Amino acid sequence: MEKRKNKKIIIKVSDLSKSFNDNIVLKNINFKLFEGESLAIIGASGSGKSVLLKNIIGILEPDKGSIQINDTEMVNLPRNLKEKILLDLGITFQHGALFDSLKNWENIIFKIANKKKMNNKQGKKLAFSIIKKLGLQPEILDLYPSEISGGMQKRVAIARAICGNPKILLFDEPTSGLDPVTGSLIDQLIKTAVRTVGGSAITITHDMASVFRIADKVMLIDNKTISWSGTPKDMFNSTNAKIQEFIKPINSEFLLND
Ligand SMILES: Nc1ncnc2c1ncn2[C@@H]1O[C@H](COP(=O)(O)OP(=O)(O)OP(=O)(O)O)[C@@H](O)[C@H]1O
Ligand SMILES: [Mg+2]
Repeated sequence: MEKRKNKKIIIKVSDLSKSFNDNIVLKNINFKLFEGESLAIIGASGSGKSVLLKNIIGILEPDKGSIQINDTEMVNLPRNLKEKILLDLGITFQHGALFDSLKNWENIIFKIANKKKMNNKQGKKLAFSIIKKLGLQPEILDLYPSEISGGMQKRVAIARAICGNPKILLFDEPTSGLDPVTGSLIDQLIKTAVRTVGGSAITITHDMASVFRIADKVMLIDNKTISWSGTPKDMFNSTNAKIQEFIKPINSEFLLND
C-alpha cells in the first residue's frame, strides 16, 4: 500500500450501494483505482460485477455513494458533462453493443472520427492497425457486425474501446467465449494499453489465466460487497473460501502437470 502513496487516484468509489426493488445487489462498495494500475474484478455469476461497472459509467445510478473519475463526481452529474468524461474512457460491455448500422471500421473509429477529420482510407487504415493486433483480417473492416462471428464482434468492440489510446479502460468479460489464443492476445493488448500510455484498467473476468496475465490487483465481489482484495499471487495464500474456489482449477492444473 505504502508505495502507492504518491500515485494519482483515477477512479474512487465510496460507499456505493445499489438495489433493484428489494434485490440488494451492492452494499457499501469502496475502492480506488490508481494510475498505471490494472485491476481485475472477479466474483460469481450474478454477484453484481456488471452492475458495478454500469454504475461507474453512469448507465445505472447508485442509490447511495460517490463515484469520482479524475476527481470529478459522476453521481448526479448533468448528462452532457458525464458524456464528455466518458468519451475519454475505453469501455466494452459484456454483451457487445456495436452499432449495427455502421461497418466494423466505422464502429472502431467512431469515438475519434468526430475529433479527427479522416477520410475513409485513413479511417480504415487506423482501424486495421488495431485489429491486426487482435488477430482479425482486413476483410472484416467493410462488413457489418451482423456479418462476423460473436468472437470477432467482441474483438471489434475491444478495438473500438482502445482506439485513440484512452487512459482509462473498463472491460466487462473481454475474453469470455473466446479461444485461449485469442484470449491471450486480448490480455496482451490490455497489458500493453496500460503500460504504454500509463493508463489504468478495470477488467471484469472469470478467466483466471487472464487475471494472472493482466492484473496488478484483484478484487472479489461476494455477498454484495468487496470481500477480498490483493495481488494475484496473494490468492494462493488466501484462506477466503471463495478465493480458494477460484484458484482450485489452477492448482489442479499444476497437479496434473506434475
Ligand atoms: N437493470 C436491472 N434491473 C434489475 N435487476 C438487475 C438489472 N441489472 C442487473 N440486475 C440484477 O443484479 C444482479 C447482479 O447482476 P450482474 O449483471 O451485475 O451480475 P454479474 O456479476 O455481472 O454476473 P455475470 O458473471 O453472470 O455477468 C442480478 O441479480 C441481476 O438480476
Ligand atoms: Mg456480468
